[in-house]
Amino acid sequence: MKISVVGTGYVGLVTGACLAEMGNDVLCLDVDPSKIKILREGGIPIHEPGLDSVVARNVQAGRLAFTTDIAKAVAHGTIQFIAVGTPPDEDGSADLQYVLAAARNIGRLMTDYKVVVDKSTVPVGTADKVKAAIEDELSKRESDARFAVVSNPEFLKEGAAVEDFMRPDRIIVGADDEQAILLMRALYAPFSRNRDKLFVMDVRSAELTKYAANAMLATRISFMNELALLAEKMGADIEQVRQGIGSDARIGTHFLYAGCGYGGSCFPKDVKALIQTASGEGQQLRVLQAVEAANEAQKLVLIDKITSRFGHDLVGKRFALWGLAFKPNTDDMREATSRVVLEELFKRGATVTAYDPVAMDEAKRIFGDHTQLDYASSPNTALAGADALIIVTEWKEFRSPDFEQIKKNLKASTIFDGRNLYEPDLVKGFGLTYESIGRRAK
Ligand code: UDX
Repeated sequence: MKISVVGTGYVGLVTGACLAEMGNDVLCLDVDPSKIKILREGGIPIHEPGLDSVVARNVQAGRLAFTTDIAKAVAHGTIQFIAVGTPPDEDGSADLQYVLAAARNIGRLMTDYKVVVDKSTVPVGTADKVKAAIEDELSKRESDARFAVVSNPEFLKEGAAVEDFMRPDRIIVGADDEQAILLMRALYAPFSRNRDKLFVMDVRSAELTKYAANAMLATRISFMNELALLAEKMGADIEQVRQGIGSDARIGTHFLYAGCGYGGSCFPKDVKALIQTASGEGQQLRVLQAVEAANEAQKLVLIDKITSRFGHDLVGKRFALWGLAFKPNTDDMREATSRVVLEELFKRGATVTAYDPVAMDEAKRIFGDHTQLDYASSPNTALAGADALIIVTEWKEFRSPDFEQIKKNLKASTIFDGRNLYEPDLVKGFGLTYESIGRRAK
């Protein structure tokens, strides 16, 4: 099938590459020539495990190409995926200007039947706006070309994006046009061979499904984070509680890990956007408002622990920081807890030596030449001369550290672990003080 994808960010590039992998003829469009240049030269503008080889293989096979030429992209695909950014506005609602600009381009240039697919996470009602934008462009040039707008939200996780796209839990297609439904079924049939994973529903339900999924997941995390704080006060262990409740099939063990707050490009943005959408309809989403507030507070939990130990004035203190990305296997620092932790430490006069396997360039871009921040080339070198170690991202390489080395290096012999990586008793056995989330050594 001939496919065009507008936007070569996470979602667009993964969608384009994985659809090409299944034998489709895919053309990806981006207005940013520097991105297209990197892609044409065989590079990947984002860090995503496995994506480079899928892209390279399909470019080589002639099934995947990149362009900045809008007319070419509109002419190419019968299916036109819109996968451009929807950054939050000042009030938290999603900014649709890029989605609607893409829709207008399609309406302005299309000459035959097109299925226009909203792949970006967009508020309920966006498909109608996309439809209106295309109709407006068609009427301006008195064209009677036919089209359908489909909502097909993406559920991939950064760091596991290729795997999630190739083996999805479910595929949501919101559509009311029979021809479009047939085409979408055919497109996704290879991803849905063992069992039918495709749910066809009305457009608005599909749009809401995406937000509902992310809001539910964010809710689980904030709920566990608050329980973890209570567990600390009560002398309970949140990890044991997690296993205890998770074995109830209605609850399940996934996505129940307490930590120093959720971040990333989706949860914080989507929770805010859903609250905004509801308030636009005169409804308050009280649960989600609390989820958001709890997460803001959770990002400060490590700072609370640090200041309880060292006081509010941290001038002269140096901290080793392991992890900058909002989660492992990505260099993405959007809404990352590390940013809040760093800002709070800087404010109190501390200096920080940070290490992250892939996100240090991103941190340099965000913080520039900050006098209170430098970087180490390995986890161990970050420890030298530090008072304490702070962990905010659960990279695999942090899971089995040399505790003797840590003990030898840290002046205050303390680890503040925001991701509960170690057994508290084990760490204590090395003579270290271990502050984690919702657990403590016996
Ligand atoms: C998420 C959704 O999982 C995905 O389906 C959607 O398409 C986009 O948003 P992503 O943002 O890539 O994906 O990351 P995810 O792995 O879901 O983690 C989000 C945040 O939650 C991270 O900061 C992570 O550390 C945190 N988290 C996750 C927890 O604190 N506890 C958990 O149990 C799980």
